[in-house]
Amino acid sequence: MADIDALVAELTRAEKLSLVRGASDPEGTATGYLPGVPRLDIPPLRLVDGPLGIRAEGERATAFPATLATASTFDPDLARKRGAAMAREACAHGQDALLAPGANLVRVPHCGRNFEYLSEDPVLASDLSRALVEGIESEDVIATVKHFAANNQETGRTAVSADVDERTLRELYLPPFRAAVEAGVGSVMTAYNRVNGTHMSDHERLVGDVLKDEWGFAGYVVSDWYGLESTVGAATAGLDVEMPGVPSGPDDPDAEFEWPDGIPDGSRAGLFGEPLAAAIDDGAVSAERLDDMVRRVLGQMARIGLLDGCDRPGELDSERHRDLARDIAARGTVLLDNDGALPLADDDDVALVGPHIHEAKLGGGGSSETTPFHSVSPVDGVTARADGTVTDARGIPEIESVSLFDLLPFVDSGHDTQEGPDDEPSLDAAVAAAEDADVAIVCVRDASTEARDRDSLTLPGRQDELVEAVADANDRTIAVLRTSGPVETPWRDDVAAVVEQWYPGQADGAALADVLYGDRDPGGRLPVTFAPEGSYPTSDERRFPGVDSVARYDEGVFVGYRHFDANGDEPTYPFGHGHSYTTFEYRDATAVDETAVEVTVENAGDRAGREVVQAYVRPPTVEGIERPEREFAGAQPVTLDAGESRTVTFALDELAFSRYDDGWTIDSGRYTVEIGRSSADVRTTVEVYR
Ligand code: BGC
Repeated sequence: MADIDALVAELTRAEKLSLVRGASDPEGTATGYLPGVPRLDIPPLRLVDGPLGIRAEGERATAFPATLATASTFDPDLARKRGAAMAREACAHGQDALLAPGANLVRVPHCGRNFEYLSEDPVLASDLSRALVEGIESEDVIATVKHFAANNQETGRTAVSADVDERTLRELYLPPFRAAVEAGVGSVMTAYNRVNGTHMSDHERLVGDVLKDEWGFAGYVVSDWYGLESTVGAATAGLDVEMPGVPSGPDDPDAEFEWPDGIPDGSRAGLFGEPLAAAIDDGAVSAERLDDMVRRVLGQMARIGLLDGCDRPGELDSERHRDLARDIAARGTVLLDNDGALPLADDDDVALVGPHIHEAKLGGGGSSETTPFHSVSPVDGVTARADGTVTDARGIPEIESVSLFDLLPFVDSGHDTQEGPDDEPSLDAAVAAAEDADVAIVCVRDASTEARDRDSLTLPGRQDELVEAVADANDRTIAVLRTSGPVETPWRDDVAAVVEQWYPGQADGAALADVLYGDRDPGGRLPVTFAPEGSYPTSDERRFPGVDSVARYDEGVFVGYRHFDANGDEPTYPFGHGHSYTTFEYRDATAVDETAVEVTVENAGDRAGREVVQAYVRPPTVEGIERPEREFAGAQPVTLDAGESRTVTFALDELAFSRYDDGWTIDSGRYTVEIGRSSADVRTTVEVYR
């Protein structure tokens, strides 16, 4: 491996500066680019988006399901495989660092980027963030966990300050990042927002003290794109690389242009070029700090073999990547309700309804947009699987899609403006198709993008009306949600089944058919709570979107199911919820020791199925300390044949026992470990003493 110190000693100051400020990629494919130093055989470093697949400019790649769909599997092994596959695709495109995973907690159900994130729960988000990083880095690609920290909304994201107390930061918002660091993540991207008044790229306490000193992060900290606010502040805080480093904006630099909310000012680039040199000359930033930045970048390049001229051919659109995209999409699908209408019979005559049934729902808008080589629409997927007839009807007009890129006139979004079928959709035709069929399937979606939050959890357009009309026409109506997070389902008592597919990616229709026809048991469980819009803690505007650019996180650790447990409001669908086509029985829960429990789970039905066995910890009462009623402590997904049983052992996550009070502490006393099917469906309990 290259001797980094020797290399740093040979670099001129100009060369060092060029290794910490982005430049234009001559090949035009990378999202971010560092030019390297040919004189010393230091190759360029290419960074590429993003969490849902590779977004190399003008190129195609496997479009994986939303990160949230991966979280829905509760399966770190699958997340690890996904990370590795995305990394192989990055290599195939000549990229070295992946700008993923997104690890922000789902605090606000409206957040436009929830589909890129992992969960409302810090233990689940940490397990998956760790696994994604391990997967990406197993293929010698640098993972970039983002956006550090407390970036939980898009409204005002470049200005808003998350006002959050230390305990809440430590218990909820930092763990997925700490887990990534423990997994050896090579890079951390700072968020656009402020935390307690300080911009994250300048946040010495969180970046310098916590991330680097306390957690021992040895890689480089990169700014979000145009997310740098200062030169000296950032360099002193611990920021190592400015991206993209080159300005963007209207073609005419003198044109009046107001940057839309949520879009950083692209003219502000180059704070780490000459200004950094000047700051070093002035003594405001030390020359050692520049060396440290460079050492961190070169260290990661060495780690993935770039400095040794390694050859990483990668792999693109291979059969195993296509299968994996389908596998995750199917496993992440959650069966929210089922009165027996599912699974479908092979010979059912199907009416397939919805404004977008002719296209796969790839993802949301923004930097995670991926262009696949091929995709399967719901119509194609169901038609290929069905032995009965499939009649399709769009029913209502298309839902307007939204994307960050469409907000910028000088950016070529690459979006296809081609419209779908040119005949007018007809609600009557959809109703008639539903009346004539054995079963009606209605696919509905939300519209979500980076840089915007959803303004409501109600499905956009006339989709609720469509579901109601189809449900009136056919008692066996199945509603299929394709959403970035929770939505309102006012018609749920009128339909026979509700399925949540999230954004399923390129395998969409194929994975949908896998689950609807029972070729696979729906393995997904909710990583976020579904509840009426007004009942989330963030329905108070002081908390979201905030007042005067301050969002108060004064709900503290009571986010997601912790909130609903505390205030007694029953959610529509609780955290961890999801039905199977079979039934499971739980028995013989025992404590192995103070951090591990085991339980035997039996598939008591007559078909194979997949259960996600979940453990939650209820802490002892401590005078004067408010704690959540229960905290998720781990999950074990198991696939069992009919009649088969398995004993699973949980290594309970310490985070579920401990609380932060000027340091981590575990109160002595009795902890009840609840084991079951969801946060609201406890099947058995066992006690452990700490
Ligand atoms: C996003 C990042 C992304 C970067 C580069 C920013 O707008 O917040 O997640 O990696 O752009 O595209």
